[in-house]
Amino acid sequence: MTLPKLEMQTGPAKTTRGRVFSGARPTGRQHLGNYLGAIKNYVALQDEYQCVYSIVDLHALTTMELTKGLRENTFDMALDWLAAGIRPDENIIFIQSHVPQVTELHTILSMVTPLGKLTDLPTFKEKVRQQPHNVNYGLVGYPVLMAADILLYHADAVPVGDDQRQHLELTRDVAQRFNHLFGETFTIPEAMIPLSGGRVMGLDDPTVKMSKSETSSEYHAVYLLDPPDRARKKIMRAVTDSGRDISFSNDPERAGVNNLLEIYEALTGKSRSEIEAHFAAARGYGDLKSEVADVVIAALEPIQQRYREITGAQDYVDSVLAKGAERAGAIAQSTLDAVRDKMGFMKAYS
Ligand code: TYM
Repeated sequence: MTLPKLEMQTGPAKTTRGRVFSGARPTGRQHLGNYLGAIKNYVALQDEYQCVYSIVDLHALTTMELTKGLRENTFDMALDWLAAGIRPDENIIFIQSHVPQVTELHTILSMVTPLGKLTDLPTFKEKVRQQPHNVNYGLVGYPVLMAADILLYHADAVPVGDDQRQHLELTRDVAQRFNHLFGETFTIPEAMIPLSGGRVMGLDDPTVKMSKSETSSEYHAVYLLDPPDRARKKIMRAVTDSGRDISFSNDPERAGVNNLLEIYEALTGKSRSEIEAHFAAARGYGDLKSEVADVVIAALEPIQQRYREITGAQDYVDSVLAKGAERAGAIAQSTLDAVRDKMGFMKAYS
């Protein structure tokens, strides 16, 4: 599989089996935004990197008052990733809380992270707005726990959607600060954000990001497991504008058409001028929607096929996650040992 066009913060991607780390919260089924922003790239990157993918159940707790569904969602995330084509033998898929070293590193890193940087983050402010009744301590520390995830595994690169950009910047700051204070310890990671599909917008409201929490309307998001007719219906009902011009645009009035075009771009890999030329003869937005639905359905088809093959294979998925935790745990422990040593902790009595 060819690598998608990814924006790196500095320089080109390393191709010599560097390490990739990424994570996602098990808060519900994965949608097209998760797929284009992250999962599609997880799959593509495994040809070039050793990849470590974590189902971040601890992070999920920051937005859940009750933990209803946590276990099922955690398992479902593993199924979705395997169905999408992540190869568990060469790479590591694990559950964050199964490698508890991350919580110790989180505590340590919290001491080198200025509080103001965390409370200034737009992502924190947004969460405060979304859940004013549950502004918990974990929400403030969320990006520090994320930094702990990434730094524990010495990731060179982190494939994420555009909404994680500032968290990656914070991770780099924290790593640099730690290295400066205690000596070279952490690899400074790079965000890998797709140039198209990095921020998929809601189909029912293209002014908000497609997200699991914006599920007020059933037409908001296409899910990986949506059957073709449902996916098509959602796309055909996508909110657009009253014009006819099918071209990429930053005009907020035309966000709906732009979103559909970006989805098409991300899935076909065609250039923007090719796409605009292709749709120049279209009779209206209906033609655009219908072709977007075709490419989305074609992308989901093999994922759904594999999903059907593995969905009953509980033992297989359990063994992938057990093996993943074991391999991740070994890396995590050796990083933590180095951190403790650099900081001058007294060695534990054995
Ligand atoms: P989460 O669970 O919100 O989302 C998982 C991944 O999907 C991407 N994404 C999107 N991309 C494009 N368009 C959208 N509408 C869209 N919605 C979600 C996200 O950017 C993400 O890549 N903080 C992370 C989880 C995390 C993590 C980490 C990621 C914890 N530790 C370490 C990387 C490295 C999150 O909440 O993702």
